[in-house]
Amino acid sequence: MSESIIEARDLKKIYRKSRIPALDDLDLDVRRGEIFTLLGRNGAGKTTFLRIATTQLLPNSGTIRVFGIDAIRDPKPIRRRIAITPQEGRPLFTLNARDHVILSLMMRGATHEEAARKTKRVLKTLDLDGVRSVHSEELSGGLRQRILIAMTIVCDVELMFLDEPTIGLDPLGRRKVWEELIRLKNEEGRTIVLTTHYMDEAEALSDQLAIIDRGHVLARGNAREVKERNLGSRIRVDVTQGFSFEELESYGRTIKAGNLLRVFTNDEVAQEISREALKRRVPISISPVTLDDVFVELVGAGIEEEEEERKIEEEKMEKGVMMK
Ligand SMILES: Nc1ncnc2c1ncn2[C@@H]1O[C@H](COP(=O)(O)OP(=O)(O)OP(=O)(O)O)[C@@H](O)[C@H]1O
Ligand SMILES: [Mg+2]
Repeated sequence: MSESIIEARDLKKIYRKSRIPALDDLDLDVRRGEIFTLLGRNGAGKTTFLRIATTQLLPNSGTIRVFGIDAIRDPKPIRRRIAITPQEGRPLFTLNARDHVILSLMMRGATHEEAARKTKRVLKTLDLDGVRSVHSEELSGGLRQRILIAMTIVCDVELMFLDEPTIGLDPLGRRKVWEELIRLKNEEGRTIVLTTHYMDEAEALSDQLAIIDRGHVLARGNAREVKERNLGSRIRVDVTQGFSFEELESYGRTIKAGNLLRVFTNDEVAQEISREALKRRVPISISPVTLDDVFVELVGAGIEEEEEERKIEEEKMEKGVMMK
C-alpha cells in the first residue's frame, strides 16, 4: 500500500451561524498516485473538505496532514505543491484562454518560453486551441470551464484538486478530461482529488472513492468494493409497464423513479420476473447494480433519517409551546 498524501482525522467544521456541522468527525486518506473521488449530495461537505485540504479554510477541530505536513499549522509549503480548480470558478473576462494558462504558470515561476510551450500542449489537449485568443467573456460556459481545468492540469504539481471539474462540459469534452486525468496519473504519477455528481465519471476514473453525507463517510473503497459491500451481489430489474409497485415489492426492494420501477434482487428472482414478463409480453431490463444505485440507497437512507429527526424535533417544539 502506498503512502498517504492526505490524512484527515476527526475533522469537524461548523460554519458561523450554522448549527449543523458541514464536516462531522471526518476521516479520510488519499494515497499517492491515485485518483480519489468524493461523492455526496448537495451540501454533503465535499467543497468544505477540499477547502480545508487546500489550506483555504480552517476546521474547528481535528487534524489534516498533506504530504505529511500539518495543513493547519504550516500551510505555506503545501500551497506550492498543489493546484486547484474551485467549484464555480470564473475566468477573468478580458483575458483569453492562452493568457490564463500562461499567467498561471508564470505566477508559479515558469519562464515565458516554458509557459508558452506547456500552454500550447494543454490547449490542444482540451480542444481550446481554436479559441485560444478569444476573450473569455465571449466563450460558452463549457469552454470557460475548460480554461479553469487547463490552468490546473498544466501545473507541474504532485497533487491537484478539481471540484466538479466537468460540470457543463459536453460528453466529448468530459471524455477528453477523463483521458487527460488518467494520463497524468499513469504517466506522470500525479495524485488527483475530484468531486463529481456524475456516477459514471466516478466509476470511470476513481481508484478510490468515498461517499459522504452530512460531513461523514458512508462508504469508501474502489467502485467494485463499494457496490459489493452495499448492495451485495445483487442485480437490478427495470420495468416500465405491466407490473404494479406492490407486486414488484414482493420480489425485492423496489424503488420508483419517474415511470421506471426498479427491483433489487438476485439471479433466480430476476429470472422469475423475466418469465412473468414474457407471459405478459412486456419488456424488462436486467443489469448489474451501478454506483448510482448504491448512492441512492445510502444517501436516500440518510435523507429518511434526517426527516425522522426533523419530525421528532418539531414534535418537541410543539409540546414545548403547549406546556407554556
Ligand atoms: N461559507 C459558508 N457559510 C455557511 N455555511 C456554509 C458555507 N459554505 C458551506 N456551508 C454549508 O456547509 C455544508 C456543506 O457545504 P459544501 O459546500 O461543503 O457542500 P458540497 O458537498 O460541496 O455541496 P455541492 O454538491 O452542492 O457543491 C452545507 O450545509 C452548506 O450550506
Ligand atoms: Mg461543492
